[in-house]
Amino acid sequence: MAKTAQLIVDGKTYELPIIVGTEDEVGIEIGELLEKTGTITLDPGYKNTGATKSAITFLDGDKGILRYRGYSIEELAEKSNFLEVAYLLIFGELPMKDQLEKFSNDIKTHTLVHEDTRKILDGFPSTSHPMGVLASMFCAQTAFYPESLDPNRSAEGVYLSIVRSLAKMPTFAAWSYKNAMGHPVNYPDNRLDYCSRFLKMLYSLPAEEYEVDPVVAGALDKLLILHADHEQNCSTSTVRMVGSSKASIYSSISAGINALWGPLHGGANQEVILMLEQIKKDGGDTEKWINRAKDKNSGFRLMGFGHRVYKNFDPRAKIIKKAADDILKKLGVNDPVLEIAMKLEEVALRDPYFIERKLYPNVDFYSGIIYRALGIPVDMFTVMFAIGRLPGWIAQWKEMRENKEPIGRPRQIYVGQKLRKFTTIEKR
Ligand code: MLT
Repeated sequence: MAKTAQLIVDGKTYELPIIVGTEDEVGIEIGELLEKTGTITLDPGYKNTGATKSAITFLDGDKGILRYRGYSIEELAEKSNFLEVAYLLIFGELPMKDQLEKFSNDIKTHTLVHEDTRKILDGFPSTSHPMGVLASMFCAQTAFYPESLDPNRSAEGVYLSIVRSLAKMPTFAAWSYKNAMGHPVNYPDNRLDYCSRFLKMLYSLPAEEYEVDPVVAGALDKLLILHADHEQNCSTSTVRMVGSSKASIYSSISAGINALWGPLHGGANQEVILMLEQIKKDGGDTEKWINRAKDKNSGFRLMGFGHRVYKNFDPRAKIIKKAADDILKKLGVNDPVLEIAMKLEEVALRDPYFIERKLYPNVDFYSGIIYRALGIPVDMFTVMFAIGRLPGWIAQWKEMRENKEPIGRPRQIYVGQKLRKFTTIEKR
Protein backbone atom coordinates (compact mmCIF):
# COMPACT_ATOMS: atom_id res chain seq x y z
CA MET A 1 0.00 0.00 0.00
CA ALA A 2 1.57 3.31 -1.12
CA LYS A 3 2.06 5.69 1.81
CA THR A 4 0.29 9.04 1.68
CA ALA A 5 0.36 12.32 3.58
CA GLN A 6 -2.84 13.97 4.74
CA LEU A 7 -3.33 17.71 4.28
CA ILE A 8 -6.30 19.55 5.70
CA VAL A 9 -7.23 22.81 3.92
CA ASP A 10 -10.39 24.68 4.97
CA GLY A 11 -11.59 21.60 6.85
CA LYS A 12 -11.19 19.29 3.85
CA THR A 13 -8.67 16.44 4.02
CA TYR A 14 -6.52 15.66 1.00
CA GLU A 15 -4.31 12.61 0.45
CA LEU A 16 -0.94 13.35 -1.15
CA PRO A 17 1.33 10.55 -2.39
CA ILE A 18 4.62 9.96 -0.56
CA ILE A 19 7.78 8.97 -2.43
CA VAL A 20 10.63 7.13 -0.70
CA GLY A 21 14.08 7.23 -2.33
CA THR A 22 16.80 4.57 -2.51
CA GLU A 23 18.36 5.90 0.72
CA ASP A 24 14.95 6.20 2.46
CA GLU A 25 14.57 9.94 1.89
CA VAL A 26 10.86 10.78 2.09
CA GLY A 27 9.12 13.33 -0.11
CA ILE A 28 5.51 14.44 -0.44
CA GLU A 29 4.55 14.66 -4.12
CA ILE A 30 2.62 17.92 -4.62
CA GLY A 31 2.35 17.85 -8.43
CA GLU A 32 -1.45 18.00 -8.16
CA LEU A 33 -1.66 20.21 -5.06
CA LEU A 34 -2.92 23.35 -6.83
CA GLU A 35 -5.43 21.39 -8.92
CA LYS A 36 -6.70 19.43 -5.88
CA THR A 37 -6.60 22.08 -3.15
CA GLY A 38 -6.30 25.46 -4.87
CA THR A 39 -3.19 26.12 -2.82
CA ILE A 40 0.56 26.10 -3.55
CA THR A 41 3.52 25.68 -1.20
CA LEU A 42 5.88 28.56 -0.38
CA ASP A 43 9.56 27.79 0.23
CA PRO A 44 11.96 30.67 -0.64
CA GLY A 45 15.32 29.17 -1.66
CA TYR A 46 13.62 25.77 -2.05
CA LYS A 47 15.41 24.52 1.10
CA ASN A 48 12.57 22.08 1.81
CA THR A 49 11.58 21.41 -1.79
CA GLY A 50 12.80 18.65 -4.08
CA ALA A 51 13.03 19.77 -7.72
CA THR A 52 13.60 16.33 -9.22
CA LYS A 53 14.31 12.64 -8.72
CA SER A 54 17.98 12.07 -9.46
CA ALA A 55 20.25 9.01 -9.55
CA ILE A 56 23.52 10.93 -9.76
CA THR A 57 24.61 12.13 -6.30
CA PHE A 58 23.47 11.24 -2.80
CA LEU A 59 24.38 13.33 0.19
CA ASP A 60 23.32 13.07 3.81
CA GLY A 61 23.85 16.37 5.63
CA ASP A 62 23.50 14.87 9.10
CA LYS A 63 25.88 11.96 8.58
CA GLY A 64 28.32 13.80 6.32
CA ILE A 65 27.85 11.33 3.45
CA LEU A 66 28.59 12.18 -0.21
CA ARG A 67 28.43 9.56 -2.99
CA TYR A 68 28.63 9.83 -6.77
CA ARG A 69 26.51 7.09 -8.41
CA GLY A 70 26.76 5.10 -5.15
CA TYR A 71 30.54 5.33 -4.74
CA SER A 72 31.79 7.19 -1.63
CA ILE A 73 33.66 10.44 -2.16
CA GLU A 74 36.39 9.05 0.12
CA GLU A 75 37.03 6.05 -2.17
CA LEU A 76 36.82 8.09 -5.36
CA ALA A 77 39.20 10.78 -4.06
CA GLU A 78 41.70 8.13 -2.98
CA LYS A 79 41.49 5.60 -5.83
CA SER A 80 40.06 7.30 -8.93
CA ASN A 81 40.95 10.26 -11.13
CA PHE A 82 38.97 13.22 -12.40
CA LEU A 83 38.24 11.98 -15.91
CA GLU A 84 37.11 8.58 -14.59
CA VAL A 85 34.83 10.33 -12.08
CA ALA A 86 33.49 12.57 -14.85
CA TYR A 87 32.66 9.46 -16.90
CA LEU A 88 30.97 7.86 -13.85
CA LEU A 89 28.82 10.93 -13.14
CA ILE A 90 27.79 11.47 -16.78
CA PHE A 91 27.23 7.86 -17.93
CA GLY A 92 26.34 6.23 -14.60
CA GLU A 93 28.99 3.50 -14.36
CA LEU A 94 32.75 3.35 -13.88
CA PRO A 95 34.32 2.95 -17.35
CA MET A 96 36.11 -0.14 -18.60
CA LYS A 97 39.72 0.51 -19.60
CA ASP A 98 38.90 0.89 -23.32
CA GLN A 99 35.94 3.18 -22.55
CA LEU A 100 38.09 5.52 -20.46
CA GLU A 101 40.81 5.54 -23.10
CA LYS A 102 38.27 6.45 -25.79
CA PHE A 103 36.72 9.14 -23.55
CA SER A 104 40.13 10.63 -22.79
CA ASN A 105 41.18 10.54 -26.46
CA ASP A 106 37.87 12.04 -27.62
CA ILE A 107 38.45 14.89 -25.16
CA LYS A 108 42.02 15.39 -26.40
CA THR A 109 40.65 15.71 -29.95
CA HIS A 110 38.66 18.79 -28.92
CA THR A 111 40.92 20.74 -26.54
CA LEU A 112 41.58 23.38 -29.21
CA VAL A 113 39.02 26.15 -29.51
CA HIS A 114 38.05 27.95 -32.74
CA GLU A 115 40.64 30.65 -33.33
CA ASP A 116 37.84 33.23 -33.65
CA THR A 117 37.34 32.73 -29.90
CA ARG A 118 40.50 34.80 -29.54
CA LYS A 119 38.58 37.76 -30.97
CA ILE A 120 36.01 37.39 -28.17
CA LEU A 121 38.78 37.08 -25.60
CA ASP A 122 40.56 40.15 -26.97
CA GLY A 123 37.38 42.15 -26.38
CA PHE A 124 37.73 41.65 -22.59
CA PRO A 125 39.95 44.19 -20.80
CA SER A 126 42.58 42.64 -18.50
CA THR A 127 40.52 43.94 -15.57
CA SER A 128 37.78 41.43 -16.45
CA HIS A 129 37.08 38.78 -13.79
CA PRO A 130 37.96 35.36 -15.28
CA MET A 131 34.50 33.97 -14.39
CA GLY A 132 32.80 36.53 -16.65
CA VAL A 133 35.22 35.72 -19.46
CA LEU A 134 34.68 31.98 -18.92
CA ALA A 135 30.88 32.22 -18.98
CA SER A 136 30.96 34.33 -22.14
CA MET A 137 33.37 32.07 -24.00
CA PHE A 138 31.34 29.01 -23.03
CA CYS A 139 28.10 30.51 -24.32
CA ALA A 140 29.88 31.64 -27.49
CA GLN A 141 30.33 27.95 -28.37
CA THR A 142 26.70 28.04 -29.55
CA ALA A 143 27.97 30.24 -32.37
CA PHE A 144 30.74 27.82 -33.37
CA TYR A 145 28.54 24.74 -32.94
CA PRO A 146 25.03 25.87 -33.95
CA GLU A 147 23.95 22.23 -34.19
CA SER A 148 24.03 22.24 -30.37
CA LEU A 149 20.93 24.44 -30.47
CA ASP A 150 18.84 21.53 -31.78
CA PRO A 151 16.53 20.60 -28.85
CA ASN A 152 16.13 17.10 -30.28
CA ARG A 153 19.79 16.43 -30.91
CA SER A 154 20.84 12.79 -31.34
CA ALA A 155 22.65 10.90 -28.56
CA GLU A 156 25.81 11.05 -30.68
CA GLY A 157 25.41 14.80 -31.03
CA VAL A 158 24.92 15.23 -27.28
CA TYR A 159 28.03 13.10 -26.63
CA LEU A 160 30.04 15.36 -28.94
CA SER A 161 28.82 18.46 -27.02
CA ILE A 162 29.74 16.77 -23.73
CA VAL A 163 33.24 15.94 -24.92
CA ARG A 164 33.71 19.44 -26.37
CA SER A 165 32.59 21.01 -23.06
CA LEU A 166 35.02 18.94 -20.98
CA ALA A 167 37.82 19.46 -23.52
CA LYS A 168 37.49 23.22 -23.85
CA MET A 169 36.76 24.23 -20.25
CA PRO A 170 40.46 24.06 -19.19
CA THR A 171 41.48 25.94 -22.33
CA PHE A 172 38.92 28.69 -21.69
CA ALA A 173 39.92 28.79 -18.01
CA ALA A 174 43.62 29.17 -18.77
CA TRP A 175 42.89 31.77 -21.45
CA SER A 176 40.72 33.80 -19.04
CA TYR A 177 43.71 33.90 -16.66
CA LYS A 178 46.19 34.86 -19.37
CA ASN A 179 43.82 37.64 -20.44
CA ALA A 180 43.79 38.98 -16.85
CA MET A 181 47.61 38.87 -16.77
CA GLY A 182 47.95 40.53 -20.17
CA HIS A 183 49.99 37.52 -21.29
CA PRO A 184 49.77 35.62 -24.59
CA VAL A 185 47.58 32.50 -24.40
CA ASN A 186 48.99 28.97 -24.59
CA TYR A 187 47.59 26.11 -26.62
CA PRO A 188 46.78 22.68 -25.12
CA ASP A 189 49.60 20.10 -25.07
CA ASN A 190 47.70 16.87 -25.69
CA ARG A 191 50.67 14.74 -24.68
CA LEU A 192 49.74 15.59 -21.07
CA ASP A 193 46.92 14.39 -18.81
CA TYR A 194 43.89 16.58 -18.11
CA CYS A 195 45.22 18.49 -15.10
CA SER A 196 48.81 18.77 -16.34
CA ARG A 197 47.56 20.07 -19.68
CA PHE A 198 45.61 22.79 -17.87
CA LEU A 199 48.49 23.76 -15.56
CA LYS A 200 50.87 24.07 -18.50
CA MET A 201 48.42 26.35 -20.36
CA LEU A 202 47.95 28.37 -17.15
CA TYR A 203 51.59 28.87 -16.21
CA SER A 204 53.71 28.55 -19.37
CA LEU A 205 55.40 31.76 -20.43
CA PRO A 206 56.93 32.45 -23.85
CA ALA A 207 60.43 31.05 -24.48
CA GLU A 208 60.45 28.82 -21.42
CA GLU A 209 59.76 25.08 -21.08
CA TYR A 210 57.28 24.78 -18.19
CA GLU A 211 57.54 21.50 -16.29
CA VAL A 212 54.34 20.45 -14.48
CA ASP A 213 54.98 19.36 -10.88
CA PRO A 214 53.22 15.98 -10.51
CA VAL A 215 52.46 16.83 -6.87
CA VAL A 216 50.56 19.92 -7.99
CA ALA A 217 48.78 18.05 -10.80
CA GLY A 218 47.82 15.25 -8.39
CA ALA A 219 46.45 17.69 -5.80
CA LEU A 220 44.45 19.48 -8.49
CA ASP A 221 43.02 16.19 -9.77
CA LYS A 222 41.83 15.34 -6.24
CA LEU A 223 40.33 18.83 -5.78
CA LEU A 224 38.41 18.53 -9.04
CA ILE A 225 37.00 15.14 -7.96
CA LEU A 226 35.79 16.68 -4.69
CA HIS A 227 33.98 19.46 -6.57
CA ALA A 228 32.54 17.34 -9.39
CA ASP A 229 28.91 17.27 -8.22
CA HIS A 230 26.80 18.14 -5.22
CA GLU A 231 23.17 17.30 -6.09
CA GLN A 232 20.83 20.30 -6.49
CA ASN A 233 23.09 23.18 -5.41
CA CYS A 234 22.50 26.69 -6.75
CA SER A 235 24.55 26.42 -9.95
CA THR A 236 23.37 22.89 -10.80
CA SER A 237 19.75 23.92 -10.28
CA THR A 238 20.45 26.85 -12.60
CA VAL A 239 21.83 24.52 -15.28
CA ARG A 240 18.73 22.34 -14.94
CA MET A 241 16.39 25.32 -15.05
CA VAL A 242 17.98 26.80 -18.19
CA GLY A 243 18.26 23.35 -19.79
CA SER A 244 14.60 22.63 -19.02
CA SER A 245 13.65 25.23 -21.66
CA LYS A 246 15.57 23.03 -24.18
CA ALA A 247 18.40 25.55 -24.30
CA SER A 248 21.73 24.19 -25.52
CA ILE A 249 24.23 22.55 -23.20
CA TYR A 250 26.65 25.45 -23.72
CA SER A 251 24.16 28.16 -22.69
CA SER A 252 22.96 26.02 -19.78
CA ILE A 253 26.53 25.58 -18.52
CA SER A 254 27.27 29.27 -19.08
CA ALA A 255 24.31 30.04 -16.78
CA GLY A 256 25.74 27.61 -14.21
CA ILE A 257 29.11 29.39 -14.35
CA ASN A 258 27.38 32.67 -13.63
CA ALA A 259 25.46 31.21 -10.68
CA LEU A 260 28.66 29.66 -9.28
CA TRP A 261 30.38 33.07 -9.45
CA GLY A 262 28.33 34.44 -6.56
CA PRO A 263 30.21 34.87 -3.22
CA LEU A 264 27.57 32.79 -1.43
CA HIS A 265 28.30 29.83 -3.73
CA GLY A 266 31.48 29.11 -5.67
CA GLY A 267 32.90 32.52 -4.92
CA ALA A 268 33.22 31.53 -1.24
CA ASN A 269 36.73 30.08 -1.72
CA GLN A 270 37.87 33.45 -3.08
CA GLU A 271 36.21 35.21 -0.11
CA VAL A 272 38.15 32.94 2.31
CA ILE A 273 41.52 34.11 1.05
CA LEU A 274 40.39 37.75 0.89
CA MET A 275 39.32 37.40 4.56
CA LEU A 276 42.68 35.84 5.51
CA GLU A 277 44.56 38.61 3.71
CA GLN A 278 42.43 41.19 5.55
CA ILE A 279 43.37 39.58 8.90
CA LYS A 280 47.05 39.51 7.89
CA LYS A 281 46.96 43.16 6.82
CA ASP A 282 45.40 44.02 10.18
CA GLY A 283 48.35 42.43 12.01
CA GLY A 284 47.35 38.74 12.01
CA ASP A 285 45.62 38.75 15.41
CA THR A 286 43.31 35.77 14.87
CA GLU A 287 41.90 35.98 18.42
CA LYS A 288 40.66 39.53 17.66
CA TRP A 289 38.92 38.38 14.48
CA ILE A 290 37.50 35.28 16.13
CA ASN A 291 35.93 37.56 18.74
CA ARG A 292 34.60 39.82 15.98
CA ALA A 293 32.99 36.80 14.36
CA LYS A 294 31.29 36.02 17.70
CA ASP A 295 29.99 39.58 18.00
CA LYS A 296 26.77 39.64 15.96
CA ASN A 297 26.97 43.48 15.83
CA SER A 298 30.40 43.43 14.17
CA GLY A 299 29.01 42.56 10.73
CA PHE A 300 32.01 40.23 10.30
CA ARG A 301 31.43 36.60 9.35
CA LEU A 302 34.09 33.92 9.06
CA MET A 303 34.07 32.77 5.44
CA GLY A 304 34.65 29.08 4.76
CA PHE A 305 32.96 27.79 7.90
CA GLY A 306 29.70 25.83 8.15
CA HIS A 307 27.47 24.59 5.32
CA ARG A 308 23.81 24.89 4.30
CA VAL A 309 23.42 21.12 3.95
CA TYR A 310 26.08 19.45 6.11
CA LYS A 311 25.10 19.73 9.78
CA ASN A 312 28.20 18.24 11.39
CA PHE A 313 31.04 18.25 8.86
CA ASP A 314 31.60 18.50 5.11
CA PRO A 315 33.08 15.13 4.07
CA ARG A 316 35.00 16.86 1.29
CA ALA A 317 36.64 19.16 3.82
CA LYS A 318 38.06 16.20 5.77
CA ILE A 319 39.66 14.84 2.58
CA ILE A 320 40.86 18.20 1.36
CA LYS A 321 42.33 19.10 4.79
CA LYS A 322 44.67 16.12 4.56
CA ALA A 323 45.57 17.08 0.99
CA ALA A 324 46.25 20.65 2.15
CA ASP A 325 48.55 19.42 4.91
CA ASP A 326 50.38 17.12 2.45
CA ILE A 327 50.76 19.81 -0.19
CA LEU A 328 52.01 22.47 2.22
CA LYS A 329 54.62 20.01 3.51
CA LYS A 330 55.65 18.73 0.04
CA LEU A 331 55.91 22.21 -1.46
CA GLY A 332 57.49 23.60 1.72
CA VAL A 333 55.12 26.54 1.58
CA ASN A 334 55.66 29.14 4.31
CA ASP A 335 52.91 31.69 3.86
CA PRO A 336 51.71 33.90 6.75
CA VAL A 337 48.19 33.85 5.29
CA LEU A 338 48.16 30.08 5.42
CA GLU A 339 49.47 30.19 9.01
CA ILE A 340 46.53 32.44 9.91
CA ALA A 341 44.21 29.91 8.27
CA MET A 342 45.65 27.09 10.38
CA LYS A 343 45.16 29.16 13.57
CA LEU A 344 41.53 29.91 12.63
CA GLU A 345 40.95 26.24 11.91
CA GLU A 346 42.46 25.25 15.28
CA VAL A 347 40.17 27.63 17.18
CA ALA A 348 37.03 26.77 15.17
CA LEU A 349 37.53 23.05 15.82
CA ARG A 350 37.79 23.49 19.64
CA ASP A 351 35.83 26.65 20.50
CA PRO A 352 32.33 25.83 21.88
CA TYR A 353 30.90 28.88 20.08
CA PHE A 354 31.79 27.39 16.68
CA ILE A 355 31.10 23.79 17.69
CA GLU A 356 27.59 24.61 18.96
CA ARG A 357 26.83 26.49 15.72
CA LYS A 358 28.36 23.76 13.52
CA LEU A 359 30.81 26.33 12.13
CA TYR A 360 33.52 23.88 11.10
CA PRO A 361 35.91 24.53 8.17
CA ASN A 362 34.21 23.56 4.89
CA VAL A 363 35.45 22.62 1.43
CA ASP A 364 35.85 26.29 0.44
CA PHE A 365 38.12 26.98 3.43
CA TYR A 366 40.65 24.34 2.47
CA SER A 367 40.36 24.61 -1.32
CA GLY A 368 41.31 28.30 -1.09
CA ILE A 369 44.36 27.33 0.99
CA ILE A 370 45.47 24.68 -1.52
CA TYR A 371 44.91 26.86 -4.56
CA ARG A 372 47.00 29.57 -2.91
CA ALA A 373 49.73 27.05 -2.06
CA LEU A 374 49.65 25.86 -5.71
CA GLY A 375 50.24 29.46 -6.77
CA ILE A 376 46.82 29.83 -8.36
CA PRO A 377 45.69 33.50 -8.25
CA VAL A 378 42.68 34.24 -6.06
CA ASP A 379 40.55 35.47 -8.99
CA MET A 380 40.96 31.98 -10.50
CA PHE A 381 39.69 30.07 -7.43
CA THR A 382 36.07 30.01 -8.58
CA VAL A 383 37.19 29.14 -12.09
CA MET A 384 38.86 26.05 -10.57
CA PHE A 385 35.57 25.22 -8.90
CA ALA A 386 33.84 25.52 -12.32
CA ILE A 387 36.34 23.14 -13.93
CA GLY A 388 35.59 20.62 -11.18
CA ARG A 389 31.80 21.07 -11.24
CA LEU A 390 31.48 20.76 -15.01
CA PRO A 391 30.92 16.95 -15.07
CA GLY A 392 28.16 17.35 -12.48
CA TRP A 393 26.47 20.09 -14.47
CA ILE A 394 26.68 17.93 -17.61
CA ALA A 395 25.37 14.82 -15.82
CA GLN A 396 22.42 16.67 -14.30
CA TRP A 397 21.58 18.43 -17.61
CA LYS A 398 21.72 15.06 -19.43
CA GLU A 399 19.59 13.29 -16.80
CA MET A 400 16.95 16.01 -16.92
CA ARG A 401 16.77 15.80 -20.72
CA GLU A 402 16.71 11.98 -20.78
CA ASN A 403 13.92 11.96 -18.18
CA LYS A 404 11.97 14.43 -20.33
CA GLU A 405 11.41 16.69 -17.32
CA PRO A 406 9.06 19.66 -17.87
CA ILE A 407 10.18 23.27 -18.19
CA GLY A 408 10.83 24.81 -14.77
CA ARG A 409 8.11 27.28 -13.83
CA PRO A 410 7.75 27.93 -10.05
CA ARG A 411 4.69 29.78 -8.76
CA GLN A 412 4.48 32.67 -6.24
CA ILE A 413 2.27 34.25 -3.60
CA TYR A 414 1.46 37.79 -4.78
CA VAL A 415 1.70 40.41 -2.01
CA GLY A 416 1.58 43.57 -4.12
CA GLN A 417 -1.12 46.21 -4.78
CA LYS A 418 -4.71 45.17 -5.43
CA LEU A 419 -6.46 46.45 -8.62
CA ARG A 420 -6.25 50.25 -8.93
CA LYS A 421 -7.07 52.81 -11.65
CA PHE A 422 -4.37 54.48 -13.76
CA THR A 423 -4.10 58.24 -13.31
CA THR A 424 -2.41 60.54 -15.79
CA ILE A 425 0.68 62.39 -14.60
CA GLU A 426 -1.24 65.67 -14.46
CA LYS A 427 -3.63 64.20 -11.90
CA ARG A 428 -1.11 62.40 -9.61
C1 MLT B 1 28.55 22.91 -3.60
O1 MLT B 1 29.41 22.01 -3.59
O2 MLT B 1 27.84 23.18 -4.57
C2 MLT B 1 28.47 23.76 -2.37
O3 MLT B 1 28.84 23.03 -1.23
C3 MLT B 1 27.12 24.43 -2.17
C4 MLT B 1 25.92 23.53 -2.01
O4 MLT B 1 25.98 22.30 -2.14
O5 MLT B 1 24.85 24.14 -1.73
